[in-house]
Amino acid sequence: MEEIIILDFYGQYNQLIARRVRECNVFCEILPFNTPVEKIKEKNPKGIIFTGGPASVYLENSPKCDEKIFELGIPILGICYGMQLMTYMLKGEVKRAYKREFGEVDVNIDNRSLLFNGLENVNKCLMSHMDYVENLPNGFEKIGWTSDCKFAGMQDIKNNFYGIQFHPEVNHTNNGIKIIRNFLYNICNCSGTWKMNSFGDEQISAIRQKIGDGKAVCALSGGVDSSVAAAIINKAIGKNLTCIFVDHGLLRKNEAEEVEEIFTKQFDVNFIKIDAKERFLNKLSGVDNPEEKRKIIGEEFIRVFEEEGKKLGKIDYLVQGTIYPDVIESGVGVGAKIKSHHNVGGLPEYVDFKEIIEPLRNLFKDEVRKVGEELGLPKSLVYRQPFPGPGLAIRVIGDITEKKLEILREADFIFREEIANTKLDKELNQYFAVLTNLKSVGVMGDERTYDYTIALRAVTTSDFMTATWSKIPYDVLEKVSTRIVNEVSHVNRVVYDITSKPPATIEWE
Ligand code: XMP
Repeated sequence: MEEIIILDFYGQYNQLIARRVRECNVFCEILPFNTPVEKIKEKNPKGIIFTGGPASVYLENSPKCDEKIFELGIPILGICYGMQLMTYMLKGEVKRAYKREFGEVDVNIDNRSLLFNGLENVNKCLMSHMDYVENLPNGFEKIGWTSDCKFAGMQDIKNNFYGIQFHPEVNHTNNGIKIIRNFLYNICNCSGTWKMNSFGDEQISAIRQKIGDGKAVCALSGGVDSSVAAAIINKAIGKNLTCIFVDHGLLRKNEAEEVEEIFTKQFDVNFIKIDAKERFLNKLSGVDNPEEKRKIIGEEFIRVFEEEGKKLGKIDYLVQGTIYPDVIESGVGVGAKIKSHHNVGGLPEYVDFKEIIEPLRNLFKDEVRKVGEELGLPKSLVYRQPFPGPGLAIRVIGDITEKKLEILREADFIFREEIANTKLDKELNQYFAVLTNLKSVGVMGDERTYDYTIALRAVTTSDFMTATWSKIPYDVLEKVSTRIVNEVSHVNRVVYDITSKPPATIEWE
């Protein structure tokens, strides 16, 4: 089977690179940057991709690959740090810039290069770098540049070495997938025969084998990830699975009732709802640090599942709907820690289960949805907008009180209702209200008010690793704002968040 090796230099987006390669029907594996060259050779790859990464190549301890990799005669594409590393190791020059180049930048490209075949002369690309290539190594020529970066792309066609300073793997780069496809097909001569086998069926039989007659509880939130995970385990072990839905008091308006309705009426599973509002809110009382909130919630979830598991008899396995972005952004294994997703970085050290099973741990949201559809889950559930495990705790900025939660629930309900009324829910991938910790002066009915500011957030995204703020029509925003200020006590101002991810994240905490 033809294969591409992705060498991991701790970039935030390296799983996305793998995703894109697989989307082009080429199998790929991610290996650590220091994989010995003999091991790479054994795999006989058609090409190698160096990922980006946060380090600087000229520092002593920065990650570097085996030099002999450049003697294998295999095409190499270096992305961002990967391009800088290629430059440095092949005796070009890399320097530190005074100013970081960040965001969607117009990159001029030489589309006679095989890498840029079929692209326009100017292409919007996501740049995110401090270091830059000052001098190309021998044998290389320039194939891309911007007003701030004189070498945004380079090639050595004799050796099939290519470097790009921008990130083709993210949606913010126009035609990024074309560039990756060009590398795979035009430069590595891949034929694209790999197809993702039926993931759901494979997981079902693997889990059936692993759990056998054992029992499992599934942490169900009613969102797509945990529902798909539950469906896989349910098909594998039937009634030996019990789904536990914890109402931690941080849910949206009517959410607990809706989830209960779906799982008791539409599914044939053991379902238990636990009212844990008081214990979660007590633990969170007075806590305003986002990471601390996440860790408290992650731990408390596990304690509730352990206690409930014990009541059910001997339970060996806890099933979670963890997906790949939760893993990456929690900074486990690769990448820098952005925030501890409650089910990964937020987990306590000791967990009283034999094992935690996470069938979706390597998948992105859109892949999870595909599996959900394959398994026959209702579309309304599969295409539900995501709701994070820590719930409204990370949407009430600062410390959490019952009163603040109530304000947020009402404002969020109005926003969601208006989005549904205008049918924008089909276009937006995630939309919600945030209760900022900011009070400001207003005037209502000739009276001075001093009340909270609600922020509205809406994004379009396919993978939730990057996202673009949504251009909701002004009249819809106006209606939402008017309704919130009129209908929700203690709110006198509504603002709209117009930042994409990066540089912001989707949730505020
Ligand atoms: P951010 O805020 O990191 O969010 O851009 C990316 C996606 O992940 C969701 N999210 C979480 N989901 N547990 C979850 O189950 C968490 O701790 C968590 N934090 C963020 C977020 O809603 C968005 O869809």
